[in-house]
Formats: sequence, C-alpha cells, structure tokens
Amino acid sequence: MKTILVTGGTGYIGSHTVTALIQSGYNVVVLDNLYNSSEAVLDRIETITGTKPKFYKTDILDKEGLKTVFAENEIDAVIHFAGYKAVGESVQIPLTYYENNISGSVNLYEAMKDAGVKTLVFSSSATVYGAPKSVPIREDFPTSTTNPYGSTKLMNEMILADVCKSDPDWSVLLLRYFNPIGAHQSGLLGEVPNGIPNNLVPYIARVANGTLEYLRVWGNDYPTPDGTGVRDYIHVVDLAEGHIAAVAYALEHKGADYINLGTGNGYSVLEVLHAYEKACGKELPYQILERRPGDIAECYADTEKAARLLNWRAKYNIDEMCRDSWNFTLKNPDGIK
Ligand code: NAD
Ligand code: UD1
Repeated sequence: MKTILVTGGTGYIGSHTVTALIQSGYNVVVLDNLYNSSEAVLDRIETITGTKPKFYKTDILDKEGLKTVFAENEIDAVIHFAGYKAVGESVQIPLTYYENNISGSVNLYEAMKDAGVKTLVFSSSATVYGAPKSVPIREDFPTSTTNPYGSTKLMNEMILADVCKSDPDWSVLLLRYFNPIGAHQSGLLGEVPNGIPNNLVPYIARVANGTLEYLRVWGNDYPTPDGTGVRDYIHVVDLAEGHIAAVAYALEHKGADYINLGTGNGYSVLEVLHAYEKACGKELPYQILERRPGDIAECYADTEKAARLLNWRAKYNIDEMCRDSWNFTLKNPDGIK
C-alpha cells in the first residue's frame, strides 16, 4: 500500500482529497497547522471512510517538524495543499504570503529531497494564466500574475520545474485548478470561509441562509452572453478525484508537467445564482455593481490534456455543485467544529 503525505489535508480541497485517497486504498498521513481548518475534519473523514488518517499538527515553516514527519513515515508521494489563498489579503500582506507559500514550500521540498521522496502533486491555480488571450485556456498559454498570491503559485511552478531539471528522478505534477465549489455529498465536508466571503458561491450560500442580504454582482458589461463574468466551476469531489489520477500518474512518470483541472464549461454569475436558487428553492436578491478591479471576463479550461494523460474528466454539473453546497451550508451553520 502506498503512503501519501497530504499537506493542508484538513482544508477544503485537502479534506476531500484525503477522503478520496483513503477510498482508493492509499495510506494517508495528514499535515496541517490548522490555521484555516479544524482537527474535527479528521473525525468526519473517519465517519465517511471508516479510517482516521494519522495527523501531524505541523507548520511547513518548521523544518524540524517536517523532518520528523518524513523520519516517522515511509512516504511514497506528497500532495501539497498547505498555503494561504486570499488574493486581496495577499496584496495587503505580501511578505506573509511569500514566507508561507514560498519559504514553507521550499522547506517541504528540501525535507522531501533529504528523505529521498521525489514525487509531488502541487496545487497551482488558473490564476497563473493572468488575463488569457482566448478561451478555452490550454496549458501552453503564456503565464503572468497580477497579485502576490498568484505570484506564489507561479514561483512554485518555476522552482519545481528547476528541481526536476536538476534531478531527473523527480516527478512533479502542477495542477492548475479552475474554480472549486460544492461540498461532499454527505454534508460532512465543505468550505468554511473566514469572515465575509470574497468568492462567488460561498457568498451566495450566505445570501441563501440569510446571513447576507443580497449578492453584489461585480459588473454586467463584460463581453459575455449576459454581461456577467464567466468561470469554470468544478465540483470539489471531481477535483479530489483528479488528484487520485494525478498521484497515480506521478508515481509512474518522471519530470514536471502542467495540467488544468476544470470542467471545460463556463457559467456566468447570473447562471450560478439561478442554479443556486433552484438548489435552495427560493429567489435570491442581487444588485449589479461596478466591475471588481483585476477581474477578467471569461476563464474556462481546455480539459483535453487531463483527459489524455490522467484519463480523468469532471462528472458533476453546476446544479449538483449548488445542491451539495447548499446541503453543507444547511447542515453546518457553525462550520466544522
Ligand atoms: P484551505 O485554506 O481550506 O486549505 C489550506 C490548508 O493549509 C488549511 O487547512 C491551512 O490550515 C493549511 N495551512 C496553511 N498554511 C500552512 C502552513 N504554513 N503549514 C501547515 N499548514 C498550513 O484552502 P483550499 O481551498 O483547500 O486550497 C488548497 C490549495 O489549493 C491552496 O494551496 C490554494 O492556494 C490552492 N487553490 C485553491 C483554490 C480555491 O479556489 N479554493 C483555487 C486554486 C488553487
Ligand atoms: C478568484 C481569484 C483567483 C483565485 C480564485 C479561487 C481574484 C481576482 N481572483 O477567482 O485568483 O484562484 O478566486 O480562490 O480574486 N463575483 C460577484 N460577486 C461576488 C463574488 C464574485 O459578482 O460577491 C463574480 C466575479 O466578478 C467573477 C465570478 O463571480 O466574475 C467568480 O468570482 P470568484 O469566486 O471570486 O473567483 P475568481 O474571480 O474567478
């Protein structure tokens, strides 16, 4: 049985991936400093899978702590989710983002090298495409960033490409996620945003449960069918399955490669709002406001490379994503505690 170390494994995408790994027969070790998640996630994973993964409350900035994790476990591969992810906050406190997402990640890669573990799946983001020249977006499109968070993703990609060049034994998959939403069908795992959400679906969920008054739609004058921004929303359970395919591929192939994880379908802000209205069975109020600075009109993935290399495609549609988000929201008014 292969052992996978999952950093950030109690977080939103991490917890769904740990669940899918256990269900696929992997032994899983979770590392997280619980900055943005709760240890209670591990009990919920046990409820779903029957297995509670071994857990280290460790910070990737703690080199000794990392060393201990690798010394105490025979790790075959690492999936690295740990990091900060709020775009706006990264503009306010860039050094904190560079320290956590770059220094912390380099510590992890060094610990891997010292332990002879050279297989890695990294959480990158479609944000590395900046303002794409056209859609759908292919992996060979030019990359650029507009904020420190995006820069930390692009820098990690560059660092890992260099590591693979320096040592052909390394195997690294850089997964560029589009917009993960939704929750586990059990209602036990999902996203618990801190404070007022910035992202669309967590915001709509709070309008639906009455915590926020109405959705602010950032602009309806984009060159899209209804004028609102179009994104490639992907169910977090599909994304987790994409990681199962990715880790299996990385264990068999050397070198670095870049893969989009999206559905290939674009939905506008108003289409998502209407899908959520169907899920929660009520009309949700909204107001059109000015565009949000830094936003692009359209962003959706070309998914052929993922299908070809990983034999993986997303299965869930926008109605199912909204249904599962609403189910989680209803069942967890106080988050995961
Ligand atoms: P999340 O905040 O729910 O999970 C990240 C986890 O990492 C949290 O549990 C947090 O406590 C932990 N963590 C943060 N810093 C740490 C540190 N120094 N040491 C140990 N643990 C630490 O976020 P998520 O949505 O699950 O995202 C996971 C990864 O995917 C992130 O790297 C994020 O940038 C990337 N990503 C997310 C999205 C998205 O929309 N959610 C999109 C593209 C990429
Ligand atoms: C944002 C980040 C991106 C990050 C991604 C996932 C920015 C500029 N980009 O992407 O780097 O990888 O989140 O975390 O922050 N919208 C509204 N009202 C709202 C919220 C959003 O109309 O209250 C609209 C936006 O204008 C956009 C769409 O909904 O058209 C999706 O927004 P969001 O969920 O924030 O994701 P992205 O902007 O795609």
